Amino acid sequence: MKEITLTGASKISSPNPVTIVCTQKPDGSTNLATVSWWTYLSYNPNMIAYAMAKTSYSGEMVRQNKKVILTIPSDKIADVVMGCGSFTGRNTDKITKFGVKMKELPNSDISVPEYSALAIVCRLKEYMETGDHYLYICNVEKVYADEQEKAVFAWDGYSQIKTVR
Ligand SMILES: Cc1cc2nc3c(=O)[nH]c(=O)nc-3n(C[C@H](O)[C@H](O)[C@H](O)COP(=O)(O)O)c2cc1C
Repeated sequence: MKEITLTGASKISSPNPVTIVCTQKPDGSTNLATVSWWTYLSYNPNMIAYAMAKTSYSGEMVRQNKKVILTIPSDKIADVVMGCGSFTGRNTDKITKFGVKMKELPNSDISVPEYSALAIVCRLKEYMETGDHYLYICNVEKVYADEQEKAVFAWDGYSQIKTVR
């Protein structure tokens, strides 16, 4: 084996998971941001975690109101995944910019993109500093799936968004 960088490792571990993290902005609308660094943590109780750069607007929102929904996008919105990972919600309304069709979930004031294969409704339990990111540890409140939708993954590190088949 030869020594490589951790960034280089993400190409070898491809396909990597991909979520669109949905948070609520102060005006009540939803911000969308692409996140690959997420994981299941516990089934009893149900918990997940994800890591976002300290500077991310999504992080600021979830630290304020503790609410977040992780969605798994389908191939029908693969282009949206790249867009939401390239602009910050601090100065861009990504839903308008990328023409993302949104839908409501029961009892949630955060909306989620149409054509999501999965939506994991969470409440922030705690967050911790991990280098240049914060790790957000969340309790899962509800999980919704649309089995007609085909989940996408990030290939070649994080540079291409497509399904596994
Ligand atoms: C495929 C892909 C995966 C990404 N994964 C992460 C991630 O795991 N954590 C992170 O902080 N940013 C990740 N990003 C970058 C964020 O989506 C990007 O910084 C975004 O502008 C943050 O938006 P916000 O400021 O509205 O929260 C990823 C981008 C792409 C395209």
